Amino acid sequence: MSDRLMTEPEMPIDATARSAEVVLRTHGLSKRYGQRLAVDTLNLEIRRQDILGFLGPNGAGKTTTIRMLLGLITPTTGSIEILGHNLATQRAHLLPRVGALIETPALYLYMSGCDNLRAVGAILGGVSAKRIDEVLDLVGLRDRQRDRVRTYSLGMKQRLGVAMALLQDPEILILDEPANGLDPAGIVEMRDLMHRLSASGKTVLISSHLLSEVQQICTRVAIINLGKLVTETSVEALTRGHGEYSVQLEQAQEALAVVRAQPWGHNAHIATDGALITPAPEGRGKDLNLFLVNAGFAPDTLMLATQDLEQIFLQLTNGGSGDSK
Ligand SMILES: Nc1ncnc2c1ncn2[C@@H]1O[C@H](COP(=O)(O)OP(=O)(O)O)[C@@H](O)[C@H]1O
Ligand SMILES: [Mg+2]
Repeated sequence: MSDRLMTEPEMPIDATARSAEVVLRTHGLSKRYGQRLAVDTLNLEIRRQDILGFLGPNGAGKTTTIRMLLGLITPTTGSIEILGHNLATQRAHLLPRVGALIETPALYLYMSGCDNLRAVGAILGGVSAKRIDEVLDLVGLRDRQRDRVRTYSLGMKQRLGVAMALLQDPEILILDEPANGLDPAGIVEMRDLMHRLSASGKTVLISSHLLSEVQQICTRVAIINLGKLVTETSVEALTRGHGEYSVQLEQAQEALAVVRAQPWGHNAHIATDGALITPAPEGRGKDLNLFLVNAGFAPDTLMLATQDLEQIFLQLTNGGSGDSK
């Protein structure tokens, strides 16, 4: 399917229903470092309960954007609106409502998870023992809270970092590459945690340079390259195919010729893996199967074709050349 995409770069239409409330919005946001535009007139919208994957190759401008969203650096031009207020003028009021974890959390390895949270809580002020219990529960570390952080897996350390970001019960959570280096089980735990947070009304932005991570954890994806937004869509729309089928069968070339002669099969082609990619009569897999069997080409396998995500990503980001400017 990927070879076809090269000539058909249009993105699928997104029809996923979402909350109408925009909780974070950037207007023409840019950041210049000398000659380099690290972030280039970025217009981003995040709605309540979104789990947005902020995806782009290294050097694309993700961390720079996140640092602006957190008020750590000042935009060169443009503005940021959080929960309906301008960050530049309402900073003190807005920042406690945004929790953040930038890359690896700063943890005291010789202290327990619970004591790490107490230490951060003491710095922030106003964090009750009850809230510490709550966040430990939320991130699934209650049973290990008395153990030294030194004994935690990377996934547990990352979740402890998320727990820190949640101490003040923020409405928006911003995580910069939180899944970096996590094993598959760690990614699943991170996904479950993000979905629990979203279900409780929180909004999450997660940056990553890996599509596979974002695809597993997030509900939406904003792809950024060279500081510019390339596309913003739901994960489901990104992965959805065009209702075509991928058929593994012997004599694929001969089957292709027969299928192409059908009124429904003009767009059939052979994928790089040798599979026949074809629409179905009336859009029904059953009818396609019957047709192929009757024509003497019994399929080994027949399934709905999905788009090759890595291919889409590489194509959208020009081979991932984020730092080649
Ligand atoms: N403090 C800085 N001074 C100069 N250039 C910077 C600075 N921070 C980031 N950059 C540059 O801005 C671009 C975007 O960087 P960054 O936001 O860290 O990307 P990402 O997080 O997507 O990997 C890169 O080209 C990087 O070299
Ligand atoms: Mg970064």
